[in-house]
Amino acid sequence: MAVKDMQTIVSLAKRRGFIFQSSEIYGGINSCWDYGPYGVALKKNVKDAWWQDNVLRRQDMTGLDSSILMSPQIWQASGHLSNFSDPMVDCKKCKLRYREDTLESKTCPACGGEFTESRQFNLMFKTFMGPVEDDANIIYLRPETAQGIFVNFKNVQQTSRKKLPFGIAQIGKSFRNEITPGNFTFRTREFEQMEIEFFVNPEQADEFYEYWKNERFDWYKRFGIKPENLQLREHDNDELAHYARGCADVEYKFPFGFSELEGIANRTDFDLNKHMESSGRDLTYLDPQTNKKFIPYVIEPSAGADRATLAFLIDAYNEEPDGDENRVVLKFHPRLAPVKVAIFPLMKKPPLKEFAQKLNSDLIKRFVCEYDEVGSIGKRYRRQDEIGTPYCITVDFDSLEDNAVTIRNRDTMQQERINTSSLIEYLDKNLNI
Ligand code: GAP
Repeated sequence: MAVKDMQTIVSLAKRRGFIFQSSEIYGGINSCWDYGPYGVALKKNVKDAWWQDNVLRRQDMTGLDSSILMSPQIWQASGHLSNFSDPMVDCKKCKLRYREDTLESKTCPACGGEFTESRQFNLMFKTFMGPVEDDANIIYLRPETAQGIFVNFKNVQQTSRKKLPFGIAQIGKSFRNEITPGNFTFRTREFEQMEIEFFVNPEQADEFYEYWKNERFDWYKRFGIKPENLQLREHDNDELAHYARGCADVEYKFPFGFSELEGIANRTDFDLNKHMESSGRDLTYLDPQTNKKFIPYVIEPSAGADRATLAFLIDAYNEEPDGDENRVVLKFHPRLAPVKVAIFPLMKKPPLKEFAQKLNSDLIKRFVCEYDEVGSIGKRYRRQDEIGTPYCITVDFDSLEDNAVTIRNRDTMQQERINTSSLIEYLDKNLNI
């Protein structure tokens, strides 16, 4: 059985140390979340898988880590100061605030009250740079990592000596003062993005738009999301961001319905053009074959690390029979699982304990391992199932004689006996897929 509702995931995430409410001991802060020990490992694995597949294993990609605070002129040029806003209304009676474009009725869904006039609310967080709080020192927390890439286009292209088509990837925090955050980590005010700006000859823009839509859709399937829970949805013209000529969303079937996981947009030469105009710097590309200069077009696959982590968590969730009871098991792809191998001595007494600890210290050099000697083996399996550990290894009295251990597969619950000398090869083959 799959996830029934978001509350099931929120409870599991807290119980098992994936995600906690931020500032919990002070009553919590709305829409902010902290990743606990297994959550931080899961999210890091998601980001590593994305980086490995999109940057390290490709010749046409390179990376960047730009700063969160940037010149305010960037947001002026990119259009975010004037356009990056949502329509907002307040209920005159109960004072609740809504994003107007998400409302289905003309009165407050909570109390039936009348709304104020709609006004545009800019989503960028504003603060001051330095000790003086005046207009000259206003600075913004970036609402997307993308602009850090555009303003470094020339630096990266020249130092990496990449030729078109090529992409620049970045993972980092972004901030948006969302009017209505919610649905756990789906929409928050502080989140991490995994963005690619793929620079192409304008003539090839349509071809690469198609390519990246398919590539990014397949990536989620490759890491275990069930195909029936994914869809690719092309935006209508009235949904397009101010910079986009075309955009499609990879959507996931969250418990509250299909919603955006990642957007793939054709940003044309909008951003480079604006930054050329505004900075006075030349951001054109000289094609070495034709000797012609032009402003590249950009195809942008833009994903959220938190949203992807949430989708992987929800999709991995299963409740299924285990003997007379039910077990909760997270069937993560092995590359995403926070812990890869759990090692248990049958009893926490010597010499089984020493044998298992030695095995743990050998394996931990290669794989993320967890040693557990507390409770019955059944309870220990259940704990590991709930955090999605692909393999559990038990050391028993026979191990002392034959140097073999029992390895149990998380998904099939099948157990097999393996000599410790073959363990690394076995785990390598099954985990690094
Ligand atoms: N540079 C393009 C851009 O930022 P976007 O569709 O606004 O496009 C891209 O954002 C991705 O960032 C989204 O698909 C989503 O995964 C993530 N994202 C955006 N706003 C978010 C929020 N408030 N909370 C969590 N993730 C968010």
